Amino acid sequence: MKPINVGLLGLGTVGGGTLTVLRRNQEEITRRAGRQIRVTHAAVRNVERAHGRYAAEGLVITDDPALVVNNPDIDIVVELIGGISPAKELVLAAIANGKHVVTANKALIAKHGNEIFARAQAKGVMVAFEAAVAGGIPIIKAIREGLSANRIEWLAGIINGTCNFILSRMRDEGRAFDDVLKEAQAKGYAEADPTFDIEGIDAAHKITIMSAIAFGVPMQFDAAHIEGISKLDSTDIRYAEQLGYRIKLLGITKRHETGIELRVHPTLIPAKRLIANVEGVMNAVLVKGDAVGATLYYGAGAGAEPTASSVVADLVDVTRLHTADPNHRVPHLAFQPDQLADLEVLPMEEVVTAYYLRMRALDKPGVLAEVTRILADLDISIDALIQREPEEGENKADVVMLTHLARERAVNAAIERIEALGSIEGKVTRIRMEALNG
Ligand code: NDP
Ligand code: HSE
Repeated sequence: MKPINVGLLGLGTVGGGTLTVLRRNQEEITRRAGRQIRVTHAAVRNVERAHGRYAAEGLVITDDPALVVNNPDIDIVVELIGGISPAKELVLAAIANGKHVVTANKALIAKHGNEIFARAQAKGVMVAFEAAVAGGIPIIKAIREGLSANRIEWLAGIINGTCNFILSRMRDEGRAFDDVLKEAQAKGYAEADPTFDIEGIDAAHKITIMSAIAFGVPMQFDAAHIEGISKLDSTDIRYAEQLGYRIKLLGITKRHETGIELRVHPTLIPAKRLIANVEGVMNAVLVKGDAVGATLYYGAGAGAEPTASSVVADLVDVTRLHTADPNHRVPHLAFQPDQLADLEVLPMEEVVTAYYLRMRALDKPGVLAEVTRILADLDISIDALIQREPEEGENKADVVMLTHLARERAVNAAIERIEALGSIEGKVTRIRMEALNG
């Protein structure tokens, strides 16, 4: 059978990895796909540099991406440029030209996926995005196809390799945040703008995508609650350890009758959970289905070849289904397009979870009683409490409390009242906790 022709937009970390894997494993990939997957064109900004790295007979390297998306001989366009523009215009042009699209661009899918899928549906082409979530873990396929018998209840994941790499190195090696971030950038893990990683935006893109395919709802990125790790204090990492917890940046989505939770924030997880022991650039996603129970998916969350593994898997899928009736393909969002639910994202104040609270309190009788009174008045019960001895010559000490389940609205009110006490110095640190026990 004649080869399927692929045009790459971008030959950076992921584009380069994709070309390498396709070349190295060409024979096995062809046996799986049923025909050869051949990269004929690649668009970059710096043609000379790309030539030096990837030139081969039959590969045209250009700095004009329009030559790729408008080329009538190209069947599949692989978008690995990143960002919104020109990626979005190029993807829409490829779709308009009747080409299938494979992308690793979670920002694009989370923010414009609804429009892109509608255009692809109308045109009868596929848009595949396995590499957009959790790098090399085939999590999109698992949720969309492997778990299709289930009513999915919730999903929680370590889905930003850069942040997990930073948190692991800070904890294990005592290294400074900026130093580890530089290493993650040098290894090709971080986004072009690393604030997307450390402020939780990248994880929010990914949890938005997983939420959509888990619950059959449209992408609702703008409604996600997002907190990153840039304000995380190493003191809290240490206290968490002493209490038997690890702090991880988690993306969490849960389904309720009235709506869905969609949130990203640093989270205390019991250290004995498997997911709490996921270190470095590795990612892991826990999915709870009503039939299967809790399932856990683990693997490299970023990097050239792990991400290429997902891109190439999509290329194989698209190649196999290229000639199939569009109505017989797997729907982009797992559910048939006319069967999406209109469950909205619940306000953060409605979320019910447990909390870690740290405050700096005057070391005198009655202070703890004032704090616990506020919590009791708001129906927040305490699960554990530690009070440090004040340092030599100090009259203030750290108090750390873990609460049982409480509503975020009540915890916000409690924090406001505690911070107003004369015996409490500065702000109360609040970190949410998840048991993740399925
Ligand atoms: P890189 O910055 O390494 O590569 C981007 C590539 O796109 C480069 O080859 C660049 O050209 C090219 N490019 C940028 N702008 C244009 C343009 N206007 N026209 C033509 N080419 C252009 O990014 P990554 O490979 O790291 O990321 C690509 C995508 O994959 C992003 O969406 C990212 O979020 C996603 N992703 C990345 C992962 C990773 O581990 N890095 C993991 C999972 C997803 P030039 O080389 O000339 O500069
Ligand atoms: N910057 C992303 C991360 C790349 O660190 O997880 C993978 O999506």
